[in-house]
Amino acid sequence: MEARDLNDDLDQVLITAEQIDSRLTELAAQIDGEYEGKEPLLVGVLRGAAMVMANLALKMRSPIQMDWMAVSSYGSGTKSSGVVRILKDLDTDLVGRDVIIVEDIIDSGLTLSWLKANLESRGPNSVKIVTLLRKPDAAKVKLDVDYVGFDLPNEFLVGYGLDYAERYRNLDCIGTLAPHVYGG
Ligand code: IMP
Ligand code: MG
Repeated sequence: MEARDLNDDLDQVLITAEQIDSRLTELAAQIDGEYEGKEPLLVGVLRGAAMVMANLALKMRSPIQMDWMAVSSYGSGTKSSGVVRILKDLDTDLVGRDVIIVEDIIDSGLTLSWLKANLESRGPNSVKIVTLLRKPDAAKVKLDVDYVGFDLPNEFLVGYGLDYAERYRNLDCIGTLAPHVYGG
C-alpha cells in the first residue's frame, strides 16, 4: 500500500519507499562485508520487523538463516516497562551462532536490551542488532546498536511494519498519522 492509498489518514511521509530500499541495500552490503565466511542467524522480532527482515534478507548476498521471536512488554499503555515476556521463542539452538537481531524501531530500547541479554545467555558466538529506525530516547539506555537505518524525531510512526492498532503495517513508506485517526 502506498501513501496515496490512505487518503487523509497520513499527516507526513518522513521516509519514502525508495529511501528505505536504498538504505536497506547499504545495510545489507555492510553486514555481508562484516560476516564474510560466516552464516549468521537473523532473528526477527514479531510482528513489526517482518518487512525489514524480509527485505534485508533478500538483499544480503551471503548465506543466512532466519528465525523469529515474539515478545510482549508488560506495562501500562504505550510505555515499555522493560519487563518482557516471551510469547514465541526461537526454534534454533544459539550455541556458537552469530546472531543478528532484526528490529523495526527502537524507542526506549528496554525491550531490546532485555532481549539481547537473553540471547547472549544462550551461548552464541556473537549477538548484534540491526534496526531500521531509532528514536532519540534510545540513547538513554546502555544498548549497542550495530546497524541503524535512520535516526528519527520522537513522533509516533506507522508503515513498513509499524502499526497503529494493527493497521498501516503494509504501508511502503514511514509516516506520521493525522490527528483525526487517534480520535483527536
Ligand atoms: P521499546 O524500544 O522497548 O520502547 O519498544 C519498541 C517497540 O515499541 C517497537 O518494537 C514497536 O513495536 C513499538 N513502537 C515504538 N515506537 C513506535 C512507533 O512510533 N510506532 C509504532 N510502534 C512503535
Ligand atoms: Mg517491534
